[in-house]
Amino acid sequence: MTSNEAPGADDGASKVGPLPFDVTKAHQARMYDYYLGGKDNYAADRAAVDEHIKIYPDLVFTMRANRAFLGRAVRYLAEEAGIRQFLDIGTGIPTAGNTHEVAQAIAPESRVVYVDYDPIVLAHARALLDSSEAGATEYIDADLRDTGTILSRAADLLDFTKPVAITLISILHAIPDADDPYSIVAKLLDAVPSGSYLAISHVGSELYQTETRQGLEDIADRMAQQHFTWRSREQVARFFEGTDLVDPGLVRVEEWRPAASTADAQRSSFWCAVGRKR
Ligand SMILES: C[S@@+](CC[C@H](N)C(=O)[O-])C[C@H]1O[C@@H](n2cnc3c(N)ncnc32)[C@H](O)[C@@H]1O
Repeated sequence: MTSNEAPGADDGASKVGPLPFDVTKAHQARMYDYYLGGKDNYAADRAAVDEHIKIYPDLVFTMRANRAFLGRAVRYLAEEAGIRQFLDIGTGIPTAGNTHEVAQAIAPESRVVYVDYDPIVLAHARALLDSSEAGATEYIDADLRDTGTILSRAADLLDFTKPVAITLISILHAIPDADDPYSIVAKLLDAVPSGSYLAISHVGSELYQTETRQGLEDIADRMAQQHFTWRSREQVARFFEGTDLVDPGLVRVEEWRPAASTADAQRSSFWCAVGRKR
């Protein structure tokens, strides 16, 4: 095993480090950009999304509901929980309503550290660095599994003696069990004080029918950067050990403190929650 590999790499764990720039394979960041109506994607990304939608049309709704959850969660954290520091891992290609924009619209002094490992996100990172004057933002090109690098570099901007919101929105399903996502989240939570928050959204294994899930996995085999690890509601809840869940608890993304009507409830296939560290 080289220093570039995760512990346990021989047991099927993935390599840790920057993702190669490969336009022939669909990438999660660029597919998500296409789902949200962005322009920073390639033919392989669009083809994969189009195939996914043929099998499961509600993926468009799910991705957009996920992005809306991110906005509501950050707004809640800044406005109601009084959080002024954010560690946003799995940032994605900048789009409308980036974490610092939502937080700084409420509290201009908010500080936000972004982390992603995809070179296309790095290429667009300048859009994440347009902080308000009172606050600050930083971008770290790193893999979620490299928590040591993330925490030491984030400490340049964030004060880890004060509460921090760690946001892992639509990223943990990209971490296979062999890479021990529970210990990754525990290491991040260990680094922040009581009164900090954890926000997660995650593909829900029981929210798809078996044939749909099989169809989506076949596409990933052929086309995608990585396989997702589908996790149940109970498995997603385990990430929140040591926290108290904010109301309404662990629900589908469109059901978490919806802005308006709940007519769309029970439609997406992502679980989410926000927890406060005890
Ligand atoms: C679907 S996007 C989510 C963007 C944003 N969090 C949101 O929900 O709107 C997931 C992002 O996680 C990033 N990602 C996936 N695995 C990662 C890893 N191991 N380390 C860092 N970033 C990762 C991808 O590159 C992608 O940009």
